[in-house]
Amino acid sequence: MRAVDLIAKKRDGQALNSDEITWFVHTYAKGDLPDYQAAAFLMAVFLRGMTTAETVSLTMAMARSGDMLDLSDVIDYAVDKHSSGGVGDKTSLIVLPLVASCGVTVAKMSGRGLGLTGGTLDKLESIRGFRVNLTEAEFRDHAKRYGLVLAGQSHDLAPADGKFYALRDVTATVPSLPLIVSSIMSKKIAAGANGIVLDVKAGSGAFMETVDQARELAQSMVEIGHNIGRDMIAVVSDMNQPLGSAVGNALEVIESIEVLQDQRAGVEDLREHCLEIAAYMLKLAGRGRQWADHQDTRALLERQLSNGAAFAKFREMISAQGGDVRMIDDPRQLPGAHLIETLSADRDGYIAQVSAHHIAQMAFDLGAGRERKIDPIDPGVGVKVHAKVGDPVKQGQPLITIYANDQVKLSESKAHFSHAFQIGDHPVNPLPLFYDTISAV
Ligand code: URA
Repeated sequence: MRAVDLIAKKRDGQALNSDEITWFVHTYAKGDLPDYQAAAFLMAVFLRGMTTAETVSLTMAMARSGDMLDLSDVIDYAVDKHSSGGVGDKTSLIVLPLVASCGVTVAKMSGRGLGLTGGTLDKLESIRGFRVNLTEAEFRDHAKRYGLVLAGQSHDLAPADGKFYALRDVTATVPSLPLIVSSIMSKKIAAGANGIVLDVKAGSGAFMETVDQARELAQSMVEIGHNIGRDMIAVVSDMNQPLGSAVGNALEVIESIEVLQDQRAGVEDLREHCLEIAAYMLKLAGRGRQWADHQDTRALLERQLSNGAAFAKFREMISAQGGDVRMIDDPRQLPGAHLIETLSADRDGYIAQVSAHHIAQMAFDLGAGRERKIDPIDPGVGVKVHAKVGDPVKQGQPLITIYANDQVKLSESKAHFSHAFQIGDHPVNPLPLFYDTISAV
């Protein structure tokens, strides 16, 4: 095969077959095709799109470009979740121990944060000693022994995606549905998932800004996953305002502990969000025989929060992976900030907007996130948001507290405050948590 012929075929709007796509992906992954041909291929896909069959082939070719994790000796059915990334999205920290506390083994590989949204591994690393770099043997052993393990990638999963993604970033070909779907799904397939709950965010703090775009992505991922033989449930959830109130690594761990300890005040939205995602994960894991009734499953999950089982599972995982559980038992021992400032409403009214994007920028400027993979982060900094869209507020009422460790960064962060909140004269409806659910089971 010749790359130029395949590029021309796609350029002219014809569908490529599975052998052609597999050949292109694997030859590029091996380093036997130049970046300029891969870039031309990506642009042809961007402009011409792909059929479902082509996207399935692309997903499987990328998944098979590296290690394929087989967990079948540890878990007979691996259930995974994926979030398209949001501000204050600490869902995994809560949902995974919650699901594991119901007897479903969860062995998940997570990522680090890049840009404005934080990564699960960074949040967990605020806990002294917590190890995210486990060997494959440790990963399997923890899954077997504790029924819960959360680690970084110890494998070379879908390396073709890494190479393609770097090229997409610099060739303006990121926002292409088949390229996004195959990128996300190839990593999940390579990580061994049988059932996947997708949390596709829509809003100013999300990759997809409109509900329609997010729904289209969710539908496409469900379709492709189903075609590959995976059970799929996708929710489209709101990301116009942050999820919960904490944005920043240790602050998000603290808020997760609050939910796991069944506190409700101030975390109602986060708790509700996690209960829904966890119920869907159990639904997949139950495969129609168990946890099929959504309300019964939710009641079980609420009991696991109130009887301490979910928190105990979280604590066990932290301890098993070397983390200092004294920080979990007394979260004041987690990394903190020495400059704390609260900013308040300048007028009476109703909260019309809490911009997830600008709140994320505030936390980022404090040092909670990283621009390049190698940048360090400050685990102790971030913000806590005290108001949600629709809340009535009085002049002088606190809207946000900033936790900083550097005066200059604090000033930079504060500069976003005026864009972060909008207060109107008239009552505003609260934002929904979810816009849609799409499934293929
Ligand atoms: N996340 C991914 O992993 N890949 C994409 O293409 C977009 C978002």
